[in-house]
Formats: sequence, C-alpha cells, structure tokens
Amino acid sequence: MSLLIKRGPLQPFDGTITGDDPLHIHDDGALLLDDDQVIDSGSAWRIIEDNPDVQVIQTRSVMSPGLSDAHIHYPQSRIVGTYGGGLLEWLENVTFPEEERFADPAHAAEVAVEFFDTLEAVGTTDVTVFCTSHPASVDALFAEAEVRSLTVTAGLVMMDRNAPSALLTPAQDAYDQTKALIERWHGAADGRLRYAITPRFAPTSTPDLLEAAGTLWREHPTCAMQTHLSESVEEVAWVKRLFPAAPDYLAVYEAFDIVGPEAIFAHAIHLTDREVASLAAHKAVVAHCPTANRFLKSGRCDVARLLKAGVTVRLGSDIGAGTTFDIMEVAAEAEGVPRRRG
Ligand code: GUN
Ligand code: ZN
Repeated sequence: MSLLIKRGPLQPFDGTITGDDPLHIHDDGALLLDDDQVIDSGSAWRIIEDNPDVQVIQTRSVMSPGLSDAHIHYPQSRIVGTYGGGLLEWLENVTFPEEERFADPAHAAEVAVEFFDTLEAVGTTDVTVFCTSHPASVDALFAEAEVRSLTVTAGLVMMDRNAPSALLTPAQDAYDQTKALIERWHGAADGRLRYAITPRFAPTSTPDLLEAAGTLWREHPTCAMQTHLSESVEEVAWVKRLFPAAPDYLAVYEAFDIVGPEAIFAHAIHLTDREVASLAAHKAVVAHCPTANRFLKSGRCDVARLLKAGVTVRLGSDIGAGTTFDIMEVAAEAEGVPRRRG
C-alpha cells in the first residue's frame, strides 16, 4: 500500500446523478490514491483529516475521481448512429444481426480492443457491460480488460426466445455457461473484473430463463445483475402480453428474484408509482441513458421523480443506441441535472 493525497481543484462528478451540477468544480478538493487507484475523493480538509500521516502534493490540474458508465453494449460499438426505427425494430434490423457476428472469437477480440481504446480516450474508468450470448464474447472482453486498468463488470447475454435462433440459448445452457464464466472471471485481476448476470430483458426471456438468472444470483450474491426495463411503450405492452399475470413490468423481474441491491435496470422510463417505490425499496439502480432515449425516440425518463423516491440513478452511454461514449456528453443531455448558466 503506497498512499498519496493529491490536493487541488476537483470535479467530483463520477457518473451518478445526485441533483448537483456535474460540471461543478470544488476549488479545494483532494484524491486519496493507492498507487494510481483512486480510493477516496472529496473536500481536501476531510481527506487530510481522515489520513493525517499521508503525504500531500498540490496540483493545479482539475482532478476527477473517475467516470462510471453504468450501461453499455460493447458488441454494438460499430453500429452507433445506425438508424433502424424504434427499439423493437432497431433490435431486429440492426442490433441482432451485428451481435451474430460475435460468434467469431477473432471478431470479438478485435472489437474489444477498439471498445477499451475508445473508453480510455473519453476518460471512463468504470464500466458495466453487456456482451452477446456467445461465451467467447465474454472471454474476449475480460481478456482485454485484464491488460487494461479499467474496472469492468460484464456478462453473457441470456436470451431464449424472440430473437434470431443463432442468438438463443436454452435456459439450462445459459445457466451452465454463465456459471462457468463466473468461475473464470468473477474477481479476476485482483477484483478489478466482476461478473454481471445478464438476462437481456423480459421479452427475450421465458420464465425458465428468468428463473435461471434468479438462481444464479442467489448462488453468486457478489455478482452484479443487469437488465433492461420499460424503455419503450411497445415493449411494455409486449411484456403485458407475454406475462399476463404480472401487474406491471418490474413485477415480472420481482417474481424471479432479480430485483435487489445494486441490480441495474437500464432506461426505466415508463414506470408506475408502484414500480418506482419498489426500485427504491429494493435499493436497485436505474441506468439513465438519455442519448439512447433520444436516438430511439423512447421517451423521457423522469429522473427527478426517481430521485425524489430515493432511487439511485447512474448514467449509461448505452452504446450502440446511445450516440456517444463520453459520459460528460451523456451528462449534458441527462434529465434531472442542473444546467450550468452562462
Ligand atoms: N433492450 C433490450 N436489448 C436492448 C439493447 O441492446 N439496447 C437497448 N437500448 N435496449 C434494449
Ligand atoms: Zn442497453
């Protein structure tokens, strides 16, 4: 352990929407570093008071604790900006054909390199990623992440209906493949790599698949959980037809125990009051993806309503529906964020 405090101007924004201006700069901030890893950040007096024996060096450069992207699809890196209609048409016409290319491990490895090069260029330090339904796509991503310095949470997309057959995996196989990947990657690189159980969303899941996801999370509670929720009106209506007994969309996930602390639900636009309250009660996280919501014309997420209810909201680039990898650009379009005047 080799600790150092860097003191100077600090932009504390890390990708979480708190109601503060993401562009605000504290004149007298500090980072606590262990080698090059940021382990704490905040006002200089607090960091120095908490670590009285640690050497302090002064800097004039504006510092950042690091930027987190809570929702991104690495296999969609090359389809950014490719028009295909609303969510469901875009998935069918643009996204699924592109994801089929990840059956080739060499292709997956090539895109993984481009993906991390781009994230490093925009300053993202912590990323939560969807791969495809090919285990080799997960191996390619984590193998590349191992030689980088980002914190990476990622997982195999689980789907067993309503997508091209080349992307479907029966629930039991998706369970077995996920389990093997958890054993290989969860906690690797001294804990920098973390596995996320990743059922894509309710419309591409049978009850058996969601059951498998819930079982995996119970068996591996330190893993992350991520999926999509209520992104478009057509999607919500489809979920109602597929799961007629569920009172609302989130209730489908609740029935299979995949709503819980730190589970990430991307989009969460068209929610009932019950769903908002349940997300808060479960300490779940919404990944707000404003550039993707604009691109697919999915609607506007009422972030102020989520924050008021006590839901944690983080930003996601949602590449490739999102139009930029740069989380500061995503923040500029985010709902519920104060705009800098002048
Ligand atoms: N819902 C299910 N899959 C996807 C995806 O790949 N992108 C977006 N934006 N929404 C989804
Ligand atoms: Zn997504």
